[in-house]
Amino acid sequence: MTVLTPVIQSERLLLDSVLPSDAAAVFEYCQDADLQRFVPVPTPYLLSDADKYVTDYVGAAAESATDILWAIRVDGVFAGVIELRLEPVHSATVGFWLGTPWRGQGIMSEALQTVSEYGFEPDGLGLERLHWESVVDNIGSAIVARRAGFHFEGTMRASLVHRGERLDSWQASLLRGDSRIPEDGWPL
Ligand SMILES: CC(C)(COP(=O)(O)OP(=O)(O)OC[C@H]1O[C@@H](n2cnc3c(N)ncnc32)[C@H](O)[C@@H]1OP(=O)(O)O)[C@@H](O)C(=O)NCCC(=O)NCCS
Repeated sequence: MTVLTPVIQSERLLLDSVLPSDAAAVFEYCQDADLQRFVPVPTPYLLSDADKYVTDYVGAAAESATDILWAIRVDGVFAGVIELRLEPVHSATVGFWLGTPWRGQGIMSEALQTVSEYGFEPDGLGLERLHWESVVDNIGSAIVARRAGFHFEGTMRASLVHRGERLDSWQASLLRGDSRIPEDGWPL
């Protein structure tokens, strides 16, 4: 069954489906060294990888009952993606990336806050817990999670396999009832 991506809006952003016409931007943005360092995309990243992403990956997410993938659009222009992987019970893990021209403007902070509130709403996804994790030292991603109110929970040793290497990861979570005020306790 194909599940339509719920369309969500915030002050500056429109979150909707990733489209085949986004392939060129996906290809351009996935050339970035930081993105390749922290997100498990193929390296080198080819136009065929972007084509597969906007067709096969997006299609598989739409067919699954467990993966919601949003395009982040600013004034209608594709800027990046944010994704929720749903897990039992009423929980999800969030993942995201943004093209370099769009960084440092609070766009991912706004996207994460918007998706979090949609996730927790009883009329949205009715979640109780959101989980965030990154490779240790992904400062930009950690700042975004902290700003959205996530609580730092620690470092898990050798817990992520990234490009064939076992790496330590940072872990954090946001519960439905948590204050959204940035927490102390982050290694930032
Ligand atoms: C992480 C990422 C999504 C942040 O997106 P963004 O829209 O730039 O985030 P925001 O602007 O909301 O906030 C990021 C903040 O972190 C800061 N920052 C980013 N990288 C940093 C670094 N290496 N060291 C210190 N600060 C950093 C930015 O300057 C910004 O702070 P400011 O608002 O005070 O200027 C983006 O950098 C990205 O796509 N990175 C590569 C992919 C990735 O790591 N994805 C997450 C995997 S867990």
